[in-house]
Order: sequence, then C-alpha cells, then structure tokens
Amino acid sequence: MCGIVGAIAERNVAGILLTGLKRLEYRGYDSAGVAIVDKSGVQRVRRAGKVQALDDAVNDSGTSGTLGIAHTRWATHGVPSERNAHPHMSGNGLALVHNGIIENYQSLRNRLQGEGYEFHSDTDSEVIVHMVHQAIAAGDDLLAAVQRTVRELHGAYALGVVSETDQDRFIAVRSGSPLVIGLGIGENYVASDQLALLPVTTRFIFLQEGDVAEVRRDSVRIFDRDGTEVEREIHEFDGTHEDAEKGEYRHYMLKEIFEQPVALQRTLEGRLGSVADLDGLFSKNADLLERVRFIQIIACGTSYHAGMIARYWLEALAGVPCQVEVASEFRYRTHVVPEGTLFVTISQSGETADTLAALRATNSPNYVGRLAVCNVDSSSLVRESELVLLTRAGPEIGVASTKAFTTQLAALKMLVLAMARVRGVDEATIQAQLDELRQLPGLIQQVLLLDDEIEKLAEQFVEKNHTLFLGRGTQYPVAMEGALKLKEISYIHAEAYPAGELKHGPLALVDKEMPVVAVAPNDELLEKLKSNLQEVRARGGELFIFADGDAALENEDGMTVLNMPAVPECLIPIVYTVPLQLLSYHVAVMRGTDVDQPRNLAKSVTVE
Ligand code: G6P
Repeated sequence: MCGIVGAIAERNVAGILLTGLKRLEYRGYDSAGVAIVDKSGVQRVRRAGKVQALDDAVNDSGTSGTLGIAHTRWATHGVPSERNAHPHMSGNGLALVHNGIIENYQSLRNRLQGEGYEFHSDTDSEVIVHMVHQAIAAGDDLLAAVQRTVRELHGAYALGVVSETDQDRFIAVRSGSPLVIGLGIGENYVASDQLALLPVTTRFIFLQEGDVAEVRRDSVRIFDRDGTEVEREIHEFDGTHEDAEKGEYRHYMLKEIFEQPVALQRTLEGRLGSVADLDGLFSKNADLLERVRFIQIIACGTSYHAGMIARYWLEALAGVPCQVEVASEFRYRTHVVPEGTLFVTISQSGETADTLAALRATNSPNYVGRLAVCNVDSSSLVRESELVLLTRAGPEIGVASTKAFTTQLAALKMLVLAMARVRGVDEATIQAQLDELRQLPGLIQQVLLLDDEIEKLAEQFVEKNHTLFLGRGTQYPVAMEGALKLKEISYIHAEAYPAGELKHGPLALVDKEMPVVAVAPNDELLEKLKSNLQEVRARGGELFIFADGDAALENEDGMTVLNMPAVPECLIPIVYTVPLQLLSYHVAVMRGTDVDQPRNLAKSVTVE
C-alpha cells in the first residue's frame, strides 16, 4: 500500500506528481507529501488527510521545480499525521519516499541513533534516508549510497530518493513492492502503478525484484540486485486513459458496478465460440490440465470469495477436488500438497503481498503448475505464474471490488469448463454452459435496471448497526461478498452465514434491529432456504430477499422481496452479486461515508 510518484523534467513537475498521487489514492489516503528540488534546495510539503489537502498547500506555497518525489500513505508504523507523512528527510538536502515495510527497522534505528542521527517520525521508513545519508557522508555518490543501503534492508520496499546536490537524477528501487518507470520525451517518471502516469506517458518499464534505477531527464539506467547494469523491455500501455476516470458517475464504485456488462463481455470475448476454444485458453500448456488431480486456490478479500464459488463449480461439474484458503493463513501453515496439484491464485491487482508470498513458496514437486487469475497483465503475479487467465475488467479504482469480482467468476467458470472438458464431461453439457455464459452481460444489464428499487430498499438499512446475510450453496460466498461490501463502505457490522447454520448460533441475534438479507435464486436449495427464512420470521426478524420471480416469495409484513430475472443455474452467483453491490453502495451514500476510499482500508495491499 502507499503510492509513490517521481518525476524529472525540464518543466515544473509539481502537477505531474500531484495528479499521479490522486490516481494512486486507492493505495492509501491518510496523509500525503512531496519533495521538490529547485535551485534553493529540497522543498518539502506534507499534509495529513487526502491528496487534495496537499494539492492546496503546494499551490498556495507556489512550490515548483524540475525534479521531485511524492507519496500518499496508508499507515503501518506510526499514526496517520503530518509528522509521519513521507517524504522523510535526512538533513535538509536528502528526501525519500517508501512503500512497504522494513522488518529490521528497529535495530537499524537503534544503531543510527547511537551514531547521532535524530528521528523525526515514528515510521520504519525514516531509517532508510539516514542510511543513504550516512553512505554519502562516507564518500558514496547517490546511486552507490542507495545500493549500499538496500543491501541491509529486510522486508518489502519500493523507494524514490532525491538529493539537492544531484539535481539531474533520482534513484528508484523495487524489492517486494511494485514500481514502474514511465518514459517521456526529455522527461522520465516513476510510480507504484502505471495508472498514475497515464496522463503523461503510455511507455513503461516494469522494474524487476531487486532492481535499482537511475532516472535522468533523457536516460534511464537499471541495475539488478547484484549491481550489474541490465536492459529491461519497454511496454506500450494498451488501454485507454478514460478507463481510469470517473466520468459522469458520482463515485468510481458506481461506475465500476455499471461497467460490469462491458467488462464481462471483454472477459469472455474471443474465448468462447465453441467447446474447442477452451483448449486455446492455456495454449502453451494445454496438456498440463490433463495432469491436474487437485486444485488449491489461494486469494485474499473479495478474490477469496470468487475462489470459494469456483470450488463449488469445480467439484460439481469437473469432479476435481479443490481447496480454497486465504493467503495469509496458507502461507504460514504446514500443508499437504497432493500429487497433481494445480495452484491457482486469484487477484485483482496481482500485487497482494500474501498472495504473492504464497505463490513464491510453491516449491513442492507435487505442483503441476501455477495459474494466476488476474486483472493486471503487468503484475508480479502474472509474471511469476506459468499459466495466466486475465480477467480484462479494466482499471478498478474503488477500494470495494465489484467488476473485478464478477469478471473473476466468469474467468473461473472458463477454467472449470476447460477442466470439465479434459475430465471427459460430455460436450453437450459444456456447450450448454458456454451458451449460457454468453447471456451474462445482458442479464447483468437487466439487474442494473433494478437500481432505483434497490436504492429505496437501502433506506431501511441506514439506521441499523448490524446486518446478517444468508445464502446456501454458491450463494453462501455471495452472501459473504455482500456482507464484506456492506461493512467495507457503510461501516455497518455485517456477517454472512450459510442459511443452514442459522440455528446453530446466529439466530440468537435476530430481532427487529437486525435486518436479514437473503439470496434466493430458483435452485435446488430454494425450499431448504425458505424453511430457514421462516425461522427468521418466526423470531420477528426483518427479511430482505433477492429472489427469483418464480420462487413464490411475496412481500409480506416483515418480508420485502425484490424480484430478480430468471437466471440459468450456472450464472446465479455472478448475477446475484450485483444487487448486493448496489445495496451496499446506496446504504453507504446515504450514511455519508467515503465510498471510494473507506476509512482504514486500501485497494492494493502490498504489505503483510
Ligand atoms: C484489498 C481490497 C479488496 C481486495 C483484496 C485482495 O483488501 O480492498 O477489494 O479484494 O485487497 O486484493 P487483490 O488485488 O489480490 O484481489
């Protein structure tokens, strides 16, 4: 988390830095700062709160210069405050921004303090700038000083460093936290994500782990972990700049919910004409699927919920045993790897620290391959996996994931069908599901038409402090995703239960103050679910049900039913997620929270 931008140009870079930071706010937004170098030295401006406060301060002070670094923070060490905001400085002439965590900072800090360095923040990051300062004082130039310093750091870091005595370059480092170089004409940049730099360039170099870059106005030199100068490929960005704009929508989240038909269309496009197309999904490694006997899915947050749904599908249709686990648990647990295991990671960003760490630890010979289901083709996860299924949702900016989730489900459905094919499931069954998948964008469009009704429904949640979400089968993870959305952006405590578990505890919570949201498609578990809903009604609970028109559920006292279109069984979890996204969105707007940037969270969790 945290976002970094750096720029060196012939012109004033303040605008480039601030625009870049605004586009990186999804990574953290509790404080922000810039260090801009001009003839008089390093001008540092920092503010607690959002980038807009910093923007105002930079404009008011008229700070300008042709070289600078900038940072938007998601606090790990030290409270969110101006004092802890980056850039951190050593003396008056050296400034540094950091994204990541330095695990051995305490011993480094003790050593530096013993040597006379004064600390002005509670962060782990400040040690780095003093270490660079110390190396320069001992005779290194800026590049050598940074290279020497990083050899002593344990943990994850992306860095940007400027010095008043070195006005023709800045140094950038990538190790465990993402960083990309942007190439301009007579100017060059660095940022945590290419999105930050799209207003100024579409040409990028993705630094590799351990790379140190020396960025000048007209050149970029890159050194690998061993200090050897290396060439890295230049990539042309192939999306559009507008993808990352809010357009006519009030929030990114709303825009991204409404983009789902198009995003899903893109995910499916060119991949699903006929059953034979499934073989092309993993062209280079088609035979690998034949060796798969077990699937281990690893993810975090919303992506984990996508994995939970895929598990139901994989076991039911393809007959492949599957386990799903959150990355932060899996990576620290001694686990058994059955022979023939396909390791599947799911991630919107492809940079989530725990998911990446789990991938990097897959050293058992029992793994037959590693597949990343991911939205960012330049991400670490994609680069480090031999099989890739891109979700093609386009940039997702809202912290609460929406279109990334439904496109993950569509991609996972393709994986399930490909697995079913190699496991000998009959072509007609697979073809029928492929045909149904093509209906997906249209069905989502129909659900989006329910927006006004859902907004009205949302009024009944605004004053509540708790909500329970219920579902059965694939709708249980859908309920989990609904609960996660509501708590993330409205700050209402929300929990999800498989409806059959209700009587084993949560029923004790049910009263008039606890709205209960249920997802009731017309599937084989509908009658079971209805019995569970009666248990809620019998205890005076207030039910809100998203139900199939044929589910024979009607509005009654204590029970509000919102009718959904008829949905083929294989698409149910994808389609039924959408009304829950809209419900959370409207509740949050009515409660006046910061929908796109909810408190304490960040979109891309690049630290443990
Ligand atoms: C954060 C985001 C979630 C996301 C999760 C996993 O918690 O706020 O929206 O689901 O990270 O991120 P990933 O990029 O790996 O899908």
